[in-house]
Amino acid sequence: MASAARSKIASSVFRKDLFRDKVAIVTGGGTGIGKGITKELLYLGCNVMIASRNPDKLETGAADIKAWQKAGNHHAKLETLPCNIRKEAEVQNLMINTLDKFGQLDFLVNNGGGQFISRAEDIKLKGWNAVVETNLTGTFLMCQGAYRHWMKDHGGAIVNILVDMWKGFPIMSHTGAARAGVDNLTKSLALEWVHNGVRINSVAPGSSIYSDTAAANYGDIKIFDTIKESVPYHRLGTVEEISSIVCFLLSPGSTFVTGETVRADAGQSHYACPTLKIPAHDKIPPYSWQSDVNDDDS
Ligand code: ADE
Repeated sequence: MASAARSKIASSVFRKDLFRDKVAIVTGGGTGIGKGITKELLYLGCNVMIASRNPDKLETGAADIKAWQKAGNHHAKLETLPCNIRKEAEVQNLMINTLDKFGQLDFLVNNGGGQFISRAEDIKLKGWNAVVETNLTGTFLMCQGAYRHWMKDHGGAIVNILVDMWKGFPIMSHTGAARAGVDNLTKSLALEWVHNGVRINSVAPGSSIYSDTAAANYGDIKIFDTIKESVPYHRLGTVEEISSIVCFLLSPGSTFVTGETVRADAGQSHYACPTLKIPAHDKIPPYSWQSDVNDDDS
């Protein structure tokens, strides 16, 4: 692996029963950041439905997570359901199935998304629409589905996962535009649904978050060495450094926060200052929450 600090963390900074008997849906919960979020929720006692368009990835991810749960002797329930979030009927089915299985829906984490690298001039309309439909429309359908089926009557908390698109996203303009749309959607829904006890926030991870899934998507692991140079911490981030923020935003610790997007990028999105070159340092230590279980797969 390039200079990525592989995480061995399998627990949480939060107390173990923080989310006991709660229920969450996590889209894209079988891989990468979504898998990290799913594990931390399970560790905290939350029952989780993971959903993805790709049934193989879903089942492989779920098998890994279950093995990890068994090794750590913590057993909140994990269910899976294939769902294409672009399709309203499949989103409805996911909501109905989750409520059938678990009887409630406290949390929704919209992590599922996708894009491809292309210069704007070369993007075909079909590709543009696919990316916008997945990242923006899919997130909207999931939020609307969770609200209509449960949260309107019972409240709840939603977290959307964005990307670092704050200064534009050249060669991925479609996803930059869609994710910026989700940032704005977060604010609109927060205000429309607050009177029914629904909070909705977003987390925007930097490109420095290392996961095997991200490495596979980039195709060349050396890209993380380049990315590291643009991070003021001069180190990469871990999926746990995203999942802990998601858990905070779902928790009672953030009851006074809604409509907000948290940048989780070690200052990377602010670092475009030609007058300051941050010297080499290692003064921000790795995320080192001690684990009771070894984790080798996120
Ligand atoms: N992950 C990437 N694309 C997706 C989609 N259309 N539905 C669900 N999860 C996804």
